[in-house]
Amino acid sequence: MDTGKQLTGTLALAVFTAVLGSLQYGYSLGVINAPQKVIERHYERSLEVHMENWEKMPMNGSDTVHPSVVMYWSLSVSIFSIGGVLSSFLVGFIGDLRGRVKGMLMVNVLAIIAGLLMGLAKMWKAHFMVIAGRCVMGFYCGLSSGLVPMYIGEIAPMAYRGALGTLHQLAIVTGILLSQLLGLEFLLGNDYYWPLLLGLSGAPALLQSLLLPLCPESPRYLYIKRGMVEEAKKSLHRLKGEYDSSHDLEEMKKEKEELEKEETISVAVLVRSSFYRQQLFVALMMHLTQQFSGVNAIFYYSTSIFETAGVTQPIYATIGVGVVNTVFTMVSVALVDRVGRRTLTLIGLAGMCTCAVAMTFGLVYLSVYSWMSYVSMSAIFLFVSFFEIGPGPIPWFIVAEIFSQGPRPAAITLAGFTNWTSNFIIGMTFPYIQALCGHYVFLLFAVLLLGFTVFIYLRLPETKGKTFEEIAASFHKRMTPTTGTKEISTGPGTSTELEQLKA
Ligand code: GLC
Repeated sequence: MDTGKQLTGTLALAVFTAVLGSLQYGYSLGVINAPQKVIERHYERSLEVHMENWEKMPMNGSDTVHPSVVMYWSLSVSIFSIGGVLSSFLVGFIGDLRGRVKGMLMVNVLAIIAGLLMGLAKMWKAHFMVIAGRCVMGFYCGLSSGLVPMYIGEIAPMAYRGALGTLHQLAIVTGILLSQLLGLEFLLGNDYYWPLLLGLSGAPALLQSLLLPLCPESPRYLYIKRGMVEEAKKSLHRLKGEYDSSHDLEEMKKEKEELEKEETISVAVLVRSSFYRQQLFVALMMHLTQQFSGVNAIFYYSTSIFETAGVTQPIYATIGVGVVNTVFTMVSVALVDRVGRRTLTLIGLAGMCTCAVAMTFGLVYLSVYSWMSYVSMSAIFLFVSFFEIGPGPIPWFIVAEIFSQGPRPAAITLAGFTNWTSNFIIGMTFPYIQALCGHYVFLLFAVLLLGFTVFIYLRLPETKGKTFEEIAASFHKRMTPTTGTKEISTGPGTSTELEQLKA
């Protein structure tokens, strides 16, 4: 009988290969920060504005940037999210078209094109090349940030589903850190190498394209979606080694039978369905929580936040955040299957809320006590640590956990769309909110975080160690007082089973 405990070489290869897509996403998120001044100067030249002043400007830049450069730069940053918002809608379609593996392979074309556009930016009008490259890369990342957790969620043995799912986030934060390090001026963040710095974001796609043909397709996709029982069995054995797969196959068979009674669950059907409302609400709230926790306010604007907090070398403090971020994601990998998703999310959110309050104190009293800069700085580091313990990684894989095969692609599509849209909103509005609220800006996030903590406490069931069917059922159980039984409905209103409640 399957113990679900095997970690085979093929499984490791499949997960490693998949998360190369996440690495690319993280790299693209972080890469645009460090070389801003250098690229802006290049834009000035390719736009032929400010030429006379440019010659006189000191190398470390001046704050006077031509308005068209500001416009093209903002577009270079934000078009990435717009690409992601648009493509996240296609995740379900691409994942179901030819399978998860072929889906990831197909979309790599986009990453390679994007890498080339940015890498060759100096050959034509740099601002157009970068904007086009970032747009295509955003489009790619919107797809891969859905396809990767979907694939990993479906191939991971139950006992390691959390840890393997968290590797998606670990690869994202590693990508962010890598881009911060390579972006240092003495490495690639300079006038000569910046196109290489940006173009490298396409490199993991090359490696992934070579490795994907060696990865087994998701057995759940093969069996449930395509009815290919033998192929699914082969795939299971490649992923889990030699074991009795009858239990896994039986589980998939049941899910397929359920699915056959239903119509295909598209995004539109899922949105309207009252049966899935609870699950969908929780899934989308998890992504809203991740983004409106304010973490990207730190990532996008850390340098200026550190400057405000009185730090003299903000760029190194930013890299410090990247390191802390990576270390605490590793902590989460180690804990998530033992402590559970719910507990880690709650600890993370409550911790972030406390840090946001501390950060506010630090900023407000900085002018009175100079040591307050240490308070703010420690609060920032702890804020990201708490984020990576739970609220960062868990939303990415929990959507694949709380939905069964039928609605899963549509649910991941909607969750991705929510994530990308709220990420875009924070990125665009944070500077204005900061201008409006001044030192009190993080108090706003503290209030939101408090609300999210209460919500998660009330609504998120634990998913650790449960089958997909059990998780789905935990959203639909209701007590029937007269019989003392718990009624569990496992399909969208099609079948119900009565499970005797243990005394
Ligand atoms: C998560 C978020 C992403 C954020 C990152 C920071 O992956 O989705 O927006 O930048 O964590 O570690």
